[in-house]
Amino acid sequence: MGRSTPFYACQSCGAQSRQFFGRCPGCGSWNSLVEQSNPAADGRRRRAAPVPAIGDHAVPRARRSEPIQSVGERPLQRLSSGFPELDRVLGGGLVPGSLVLVGGDPGIGKSTLLLQSARALAADCSVLYVSAEESAQQVKLRWRRLQQPAEGGPGEAGLQLLAETDLELVLQELEALRPAVAIIDSIQALHDAELNSAPGSVSQVRECAAALQRLAKRQDMALLLVGHVTKEGMLAGPKVLEHLVDAVLTFEGDRFASHRLLRAVKNRFGATHELGVFEMRDRGLAEVTNPSELFLGGEGPCAGTATIVACEGTRPLLVDLQALVSTTSYASPRRTATGIGINRLHQILAVLEKHMGLPLSRFDCYLAVAGGLEVEEPAADLGVAAAVVASYRDLILPAGTVLVGELGLGGQIRSVAQLELRLQEAARLGFRRAVVPRSSGLAPVAAALGLELMEAGGVAEALVAALGVDPAAD
Ligand code: TYD
Ligand code: MG
Repeated sequence: MGRSTPFYACQSCGAQSRQFFGRCPGCGSWNSLVEQSNPAADGRRRRAAPVPAIGDHAVPRARRSEPIQSVGERPLQRLSSGFPELDRVLGGGLVPGSLVLVGGDPGIGKSTLLLQSARALAADCSVLYVSAEESAQQVKLRWRRLQQPAEGGPGEAGLQLLAETDLELVLQELEALRPAVAIIDSIQALHDAELNSAPGSVSQVRECAAALQRLAKRQDMALLLVGHVTKEGMLAGPKVLEHLVDAVLTFEGDRFASHRLLRAVKNRFGATHELGVFEMRDRGLAEVTNPSELFLGGEGPCAGTATIVACEGTRPLLVDLQALVSTTSYASPRRTATGIGINRLHQILAVLEKHMGLPLSRFDCYLAVAGGLEVEEPAADLGVAAAVVASYRDLILPAGTVLVGELGLGGQIRSVAQLELRLQEAARLGFRRAVVPRSSGLAPVAAALGLELMEAGGVAEALVAALGVDPAAD
């Protein structure tokens, strides 16, 4: 593209085009193309790194490879953030030299989480907290509010604060200070004065993150970047940042509830889909060590409620599902699902209609997961089916029952991963009966846990076992 040719860049995925589109041809997001007046000026001039093209391999001068056995191994000395929940999501603590992106909606508590972690990290190593959004005074105020009783404890000594938005100055400070951990809050608020584009645009975010990453790798510094989520629920410039960083954590929660969920969606140093649960209090975030209690409705017996054991990473969670099934007064029935994919609900309703003969297409169906949790795994299917059928028949599931199983399109109950772990959690919380897929091989485990295990091969069999009556019989 020539110097004077205007072009457009997508603010979400970074795709460029000469023509304006209302919808980005690259990632499909709407109204994300912004005119970039001069591509040459918008590109980087200072710390230019060649962008490797596909198939563009540099010709090696000398042999640099070595047998994998002789590659030296450095033991990973992970740093603790002071929050076992955060450490677990990171895969056991913060790895020195790693780059971690923490994303989430504005106001969800990212700054609070990282400031509290900075305090604990600073007890062991030097930490620089770069605040690009709030003034030093504002951070100090928050710091006071978060202050734990041991004021002036070891945590205070190693923590430096810099309120700055200019990338160059941040880099200089990092080079001068050489902290073991640096926190950038947020990457979107930093700007590189040598680029024409506005702070927060894709080219700014990419360049700032890349410059920070190069410095972090050189100095073996762990870097935590805060990133905001856009209206569409994506990290700004997601494609640009996600491949660059070692781990992507998302911090999410219900605006109306005080609990917050921290998840790893990418992690080069640990498992993904680990879940950490926090609660926002008036003196900052506190860990929730028994999250199952958060997602159990606790309203007592109620028609249309079923309990499942969801598994987030290695952590089993007991979660209540509620369904409301009522005769429709519309031409086509209404279906809404909160916390579960609507397509999954449609599929489960179709299976119940076909394999149990329930005329659900004449009924509205609303489904909600308690506590604002998003349950993605198919192991929730059987619980959804039980909640729907219980509401349809106005039945209350016997107290202390959990259901775990994936529903096949043929009405069969499929096995699920980590069933033993789920049963242990159910038993720990006082549940007495579990409906699970056939041939689980867990009868001895269940007996030891004091759980009555009901194995079922098909949906009808499972629901009869769970409800104690045949819901399809008139
Ligand atoms: P913040 O960490 O600033 O969010 P983010 O950096 O993700 O934008 O958190 C802001 C919210 O948290 C704000 O609405 C006030 C609330 N909060 C508390 O309830 N208790 C506290 O101790 C603190 C520091 C914040
Ligand atoms: Mg913030």
